[in-house]
Amino acid sequence: MTSPHDQVGAIQDRSIFLLNLLGDFKPESQPLSRLDHSLQMASRARADGHCSEIIVACLFHDVGHIIPGCNHAQVAADFLKPFVSTEIVTVLRFHTLLGQGSIIPNALENCEWCPAFIELDAISWDPNYPSLEISDFFQYINSVIC
Ligand SMILES: [Fe+2]
Repeated sequence: MTSPHDQVGAIQDRSIFLLNLLGDFKPESQPLSRLDHSLQMASRARADGHCSEIIVACLFHDVGHIIPGCNHAQVAADFLKPFVSTEIVTVLRFHTLLGQGSIIPNALENCEWCPAFIELDAISWDPNYPSLEISDFFQYINSVIC
């Protein structure tokens, strides 16, 4: 029988496993895999001084792409819902539409960091950016997904 502590470790390990799967997915129009894109977005968020929850949201915002054909933004929102604020869940849910400038939910009208999040998503395809490794984010994953 597993202890609650083991179960926490298991969800963190499974999260990292899912994140690594993004390395198998690369948009034809972009120079990076979705894993490298996510690592770059999280690296930039850390460099900009964002909190751990937002850094983890950057890491996992595209995790739904491991299931082709699904609403990847909704998958990311559902995945992190137990661990992050309602505001972050809403940004994750709408991040593709926000990036297209086509919708701003009322719940995000006063979200100060949302525009920066969307901007980080847009610019984090630079093959020359010195992104951190996935292991550099273990402490953030362990502190948020718990
Ligand atoms: Fe993205």
